[in-house]
Amino acid sequence: MSSKNKTTWFCSSCGCESSKWMGRCPSCGEWNTMVEAPSESSRGASRHNASSESAPRRLSEIDYAGEQRILLSNPELDRILGGGIVPGSLVLLAGEPGIGKSTMSLQIPLQAADLKTLYVSGEESARQVKMRAERLGGDVSGCIIYCETSIDSIISQAQKIQPSLMIVDSVQTMYCEAVESTAGSVSQIKEVTSRLLRFAKESGVPVILIGHITKDGYIAGPKVLEHIVDVVLQFEGENRGSYRILRSIKNRFGSTSELAVFEMTGSGLRAVANPSELLVPMHGQGLSGTAVCAMLDGTRAFLFEVQALVSSAVYGTAQRSATGFDTRRLNMLLAVLEKRAGFRLGAKDVFLNMAGGLKISDPACDLAVIAAILSSNFDYCIPSDVCFAAEVGLSGEIRPVSQTDRRIVEASRLGFRKIYISGFSQKLEKVEGIEQIRVADVAELVKKLFG
Ligand code: TYD
Ligand code: MG
Repeated sequence: MSSKNKTTWFCSSCGCESSKWMGRCPSCGEWNTMVEAPSESSRGASRHNASSESAPRRLSEIDYAGEQRILLSNPELDRILGGGIVPGSLVLLAGEPGIGKSTMSLQIPLQAADLKTLYVSGEESARQVKMRAERLGGDVSGCIIYCETSIDSIISQAQKIQPSLMIVDSVQTMYCEAVESTAGSVSQIKEVTSRLLRFAKESGVPVILIGHITKDGYIAGPKVLEHIVDVVLQFEGENRGSYRILRSIKNRFGSTSELAVFEMTGSGLRAVANPSELLVPMHGQGLSGTAVCAMLDGTRAFLFEVQALVSSAVYGTAQRSATGFDTRRLNMLLAVLEKRAGFRLGAKDVFLNMAGGLKISDPACDLAVIAAILSSNFDYCIPSDVCFAAEVGLSGEIRPVSQTDRRIVEASRLGFRKIYISGFSQKLEKVEGIEQIRVADVAELVKKLFG
């Protein structure tokens, strides 16, 4: 508690917290942005968390008859929440403007009509929401709409209505009279969220709070909130594409880095139950520069396509660009190919793209990246029933990755016949229908793949 109370300053630009005032924010480098935090409320909220459980007790005395969850009638959303939403929890639904936050949150009451949902909109009028609801289809009978931006009014209404779920769209439009700055400022966002947290904990009503994040991925507002809320779900994906990835990046009641894929259609977001189907090649055979990776995200294995384009640099210096993949990692892999396997890629442009607008951080993707680059470089197609799952080390060695067995099973289930894995993997069970090809270094990969 004492260490928490010390935090009294934060940057009004990026939300970085500090125990003392500073002229320049150490996180974003802006000058004169440190302001005093309205810390009373956040303290109030955390005090409340512990209120009824303040005395030390034996664990055996604690009543616990399994965790209660409220199902939102959206299997994919329920799954990434950890099996439904927990009563009294505060869930932040974050993403860029236009990505589908309002759509997804309005689809909840329309699909789960048995839930009495209070849908609070500070962004749209009741008629606009109705219009959208008609477009989405579904049962509107369980949904109560309230267009308001004063958090005090919202909470007092919610206390009267006692909904089974409350949705607030969006944190940036809400304000609290006790705080002087304008709606959307960091102090307002913090205060509004703390109030909603307190309301959720006191009433047991789960609250879904929508927060916008900016294009560069820097979450000015919501970043500050990640510490306050129980669950953070974040939308990713290219706005122009129709696929949206919803990721859980924080979850007090379930595993993180769970992922669900949705497709934005004319009538709202549709869950894509098997993401591999849309992320693996759609062109059949005959295209060089593509390789399929068997990746793991959270608890789920799926396959997706890595695309590379290698061409002679037109201008002086070679370009390296990666979408959905760390550019530094790409440069490292190119250096490995150059130094350990003797490929001259220094004078080549290399472009890398992860299918479906996915952002990849699974190291198992390395081998597919290298395979895609080599395939494009040699203009040699990798057969469409081949996939990859291994990490590449600095000395060109191919290293095992976690849960290789699950990746193999998933690959086999999707009709892949060969999977390249690390030669250093422990002994793995044979899986029906798929051959495991072990490679120890890049040279061996080239020999076995392009023979
Ligand atoms: P929206 O949910 O309003 O985004 P956010 O709340 O995250 O800002 O989604 C807006 C986009 O989705 C908009 O470009 C229109 C599109 N859309 C559809 O394609 N189909 C639909 O059924 C709906 C409701 C929206
Ligand atoms: Mg919206």
